Amino acid sequence: MNEIRFKDGAGYERYMGKWSQLAGDVFLDWLAPLPAWDWLDVGCGNGAFTDMLMLRCAPASMHGVDPSDEQLAYASARPALRAARFRKGDAMALPYAAAAFDAAVMPLVLFFVPDPAKGVAEMARVVRPGGVVAAYAWDMPGGGFPYEALLAEIRGMGITVPSPPSPWASRLEAMQELWVGAGLGAVETRVIEVQRAFGDFEDYWSTALGAPSVGSTLSAMAADDLARIKMRLRTLQPADAQGRITYSARANAVKGRVSE
Ligand SMILES: C[S@@+](CC[C@H](N)C(=O)[O-])C[C@H]1O[C@@H](n2cnc3c(N)ncnc32)[C@H](O)[C@@H]1O
Repeated sequence: MNEIRFKDGAGYERYMGKWSQLAGDVFLDWLAPLPAWDWLDVGCGNGAFTDMLMLRCAPASMHGVDPSDEQLAYASARPALRAARFRKGDAMALPYAAAAFDAAVMPLVLFFVPDPAKGVAEMARVVRPGGVVAAYAWDMPGGGFPYEALLAEIRGMGITVPSPPSPWASRLEAMQELWVGAGLGAVETRVIEVQRAFGDFEDYWSTALGAPSVGSTLSAMAADDLARIKMRLRTLQPADAQGRITYSARANAVKGRVSE
C-alpha cells in the first residue's frame, strides 16, 4: 500500500518540483533528445519536469499521466503546458496504444510504482521501435534523497516516516536490470548530483513541512521533539555568510531504446 499521497501541486512545487528540475536539467542534457518528438511523461505529477520538456525539447506533442487529480490540476494550469494533454492513470496500466510515442520518461516515480518491472514494460510498450525509455530517481537506499538529513534525524528518534513502496528500484544496478529485463537495448546509466540553496534555515524548514511524506510526520510530532530536530539540523548544516543553507541530492538515471 502506497501511503504517500500527492494532494497539493503548489506545495509539491516548492518541496520537490524545484529539486526535480535541477536533476531534470542534467538528465535532459544526457538524453540529448531530437526536436518534434511525441513525449509521454509517466507520473508527471504537477508538471515540474513536463514544463522543462516543453520548453527545452520542441516536442510535436506532450502527454502526461498521473494518478493524482491535484497534481494534474496544477500541471494543466502551467502556462507552458497549455497544449499538453494530461490523463489520470497508473504507470502499471498506461492508458495509451502501443508504439504511440517517440519517448517515455519517468522522473522521480520509479520508487512509487508497486511493481516497477510492470511500469518499465508499459513504457516500452507505448514507445515505438527505436524510441527512448528513460528515468531518473533519487538514490533512496544510498541516501540520495534531498531531505535525507531530516529523515535520518526523525528515524534516530525511533519514528517511522512513510516511504514509497519500491525504494530498491532507484539503485543504479536495479535500474540497469529493470531496463534490460524489459528487453530495452543500448541501456546506459549515470549518477546525477545536484545542490539547492535555501534562503535561510526557516525557508528550508517550512519547505519540508509542506512535504506529503515527511511534512505530515513532522506535524504530528511533539513540540519538544520538533525543537530538538531543528536544533540538530541547524548544527549539521550551518548557514553561509548570507544565511543560506545548501543541501545536496543524488539521483540515478537510466536510458534505453525499444528494439527495432
Ligand atoms: C515525486 S513525484 C514526481 C512528479 C514529477 N514527475 C516530477 O518530476 O516532479 C511522484 C509522482 O508519482 C505519482 N505516482 C505515484 N504512484 C504512481 C503510479 N503507480 N503510477 C504513476 N504515477 C504514480 C504521484 O502521484 C506523484 O505525482
